[in-house]
Amino acid sequence: MLIIKELKKTFVSKGSEYIALQSLNLSVKNGEFVAVMGPSGSGKTTLLNCISGFMTADAGEIILDGENILNIGEEKLADVRQNKLGFVFQDFMLINGLTVLENIYLPQIISNKNMKSMEEKTKILLDAFRIRKIKNKYPNEISGGEKQRVAIARALSNNPSILLADEPTGNLDSKSSSAVIEAFIDANKKLGATIFMVTHDAFAASHSDRVVALKDGQIVKELVRNTPPREFLNDILNFMKVINGETYDA
Ligand SMILES: Nc1ncnc2c1ncn2[C@@H]1O[C@H](COP(=O)(O)OP(=O)(O)OP(=O)(O)O)[C@@H](O)[C@H]1O
Ligand SMILES: [Mg+2]
Repeated sequence: MLIIKELKKTFVSKGSEYIALQSLNLSVKNGEFVAVMGPSGSGKTTLLNCISGFMTADAGEIILDGENILNIGEEKLADVRQNKLGFVFQDFMLINGLTVLENIYLPQIISNKNMKSMEEKTKILLDAFRIRKIKNKYPNEISGGEKQRVAIARALSNNPSILLADEPTGNLDSKSSSAVIEAFIDANKKLGATIFMVTHDAFAASHSDRVVALKDGQIVKELVRNTPPREFLNDILNFMKVINGETYDA
């Protein structure tokens, strides 16, 4: 479980201060799929960067599985990143010189997993994300949607407590993007992964359990899904109109 308490982050640039996150409180339960939405500049990436330790924060706590991971030392942070957090980036970040299979093995090798447990885990991931057929291909030989599914499989290979994703469908066309959304749903439903996903895509968000809306570094609303995704999508679109002051395209 992830609990964020009173998280504050200020940027100082050219002598003036800019508050990117103001006393933010949020929690994500184990097994929950949470989508974070909000206009550009609302603090979504900053929030993810604070959770992943890519950025320090000014105040607050980020408690993951009972342990505060905010502003901890490099060594502890490396361990948390390696064993507790899974990352999916917009541009995949697969290693081009390694095959799909080797990319998925890599985090497990770094964590000194034995061959047997690695093979078992990888088998589950190849099946769950339907990437067995491409396992011996290199990243430049597969499609964008496939790359992102491999990236999700790799991110889950060490059984992280939470999977963090920043606009994972941002660079994909709508077909690849649907395949990726499906992969997140599979990760959550089939493998029980806890997901924290920043997205501009209301369709992607409509499959989450809960949408957290950020504006000016604060949570302005949470929408809990208790209808099918198709109906939830309408609630999200209506709500986004209000906070963006504009119409969102479905
Ligand atoms: N390194 C930085 N230095 C100064 N200001 C920053 C820095 N990083 C982010 N900001 C500011 O903090 C605010 C939040 O940025 P952030 O990247 O978190 O927004 P976002 O919600 O992810 O936006 P987008 O949807 O465009 O990705 C923005 O106003 C941004 O200009
Ligand atoms: Mg961002």
